[in-house]
Amino acid sequence: MLLAAVMLLSGCRGESDPGETGDGTAPVETVTIPGTEDRAVLGDYLEITPHGEHDVRMLFLNVGKADAIFLRIGETGWMIDAGTVSALPMLEAGMNLLGLSRLDGIFITHTDSDHVGGLRGFLSLYETDAIYTSTISADWNRVEGVRGEIPRVALDPGAVVQAGEGVWFEVLGPIRYNPRDDNNSLVLRLRVNGSTSLFCGDMMTDEEKTLMYAGMNLDCDLLKVGHHGKKDATSSSFLAETSPSVALICADKEEESDSAHKSVIKALNAAGAEVYITENTPVAYDVTVTPGGKITVEDVSLPEPPDVRFVSVSKSDQLVVLENAGDAQADLSGWWILSETGNDLYRFPDGTELEAGGTLSVGCTDTSGTPDLRWNEGKVWHKTKEDRAVLIDPWGAEVDFMVSQ
Ligand SMILES: [Fe+2]
Repeated sequence: MLLAAVMLLSGCRGESDPGETGDGTAPVETVTIPGTEDRAVLGDYLEITPHGEHDVRMLFLNVGKADAIFLRIGETGWMIDAGTVSALPMLEAGMNLLGLSRLDGIFITHTDSDHVGGLRGFLSLYETDAIYTSTISADWNRVEGVRGEIPRVALDPGAVVQAGEGVWFEVLGPIRYNPRDDNNSLVLRLRVNGSTSLFCGDMMTDEEKTLMYAGMNLDCDLLKVGHHGKKDATSSSFLAETSPSVALICADKEEESDSAHKSVIKALNAAGAEVYITENTPVAYDVTVTPGGKITVEDVSLPEPPDVRFVSVSKSDQLVVLENAGDAQADLSGWWILSETGNDLYRFPDGTELEAGGTLSVGCTDTSGTPDLRWNEGKVWHKTKEDRAVLIDPWGAEVDFMVSQ
């Protein structure tokens, strides 16, 4: 069935093919747009045999209606999607929580801003050996524009990426180009410790059908549900083929009301899956795959943050003042202030300390006077619109917030 499907899918579209007009006049040149050709399935994934026992942890971060997943497999570190621009504190938290200082690879499933938005900021803080994308895409410029010297590796279906001795990410899709880029999402399978995880990006029912018709084995234990759990993905036939026991949905119903749709959750439950939605965890779901293949899912447990809080967030002065209301010195290295309206982030430099009872001011480049620290922006706080300042610790926890005045 697989071979038949490959033959069916290859050569359907995309090759330069000078045509003729109906009246026999000037030939019409068909132009191939890179990334829109259907791809034949490589046999690489059929050649591997996962083996050995490995330490495996995955973090499914709460980054709103967006995807950001970290994996530590043995000594290697990986990220699948980078959330939105404002997810950067959470990405750093993911690295801290898994004890990672660099990554072996970043997979970007497709280039919607809720999957690639945080990549630029992440690459300003951390190194990675490669950025992996699919070959098929409507547009990879959003990765090309930020990757610098880091190689981008375009993956065809059937390709594999090794994550240590006896462990591989296997590329199951995309196979067929679809004008709706969600359906060009990179679909990855990870078989480790005798357990199978399937990461679906924003795959919708069209791509699900393509993979099923191509004869891909979609059976899994853990399913990263496609397209934020909306009802235009996770069809009943796809669910029958995947039969997960654990399902993770990256969603936030406040941001997008049809994400984590009740019909999808009901269908997953009916299929026997425990369902976890990232909006229900403060920071991340911490998933472990034991050497025996057992999957456990827990909320990340965090250290208690010091009692640091906002004193004021001034629109007119463009100045934030913080105080340490605790009785011990607070290390603010790697803490963040987020301006929700401006979508701007300030990261406290390493070595920033705030003594017990002390205050610390953070201005912008336009702020008069001598603030202790300066945000590298002319102004941050909107002069007329309401803005919400959020103080975030290096573990991604929201420590305090204040509406600008
Ligand atoms: Fe998305």
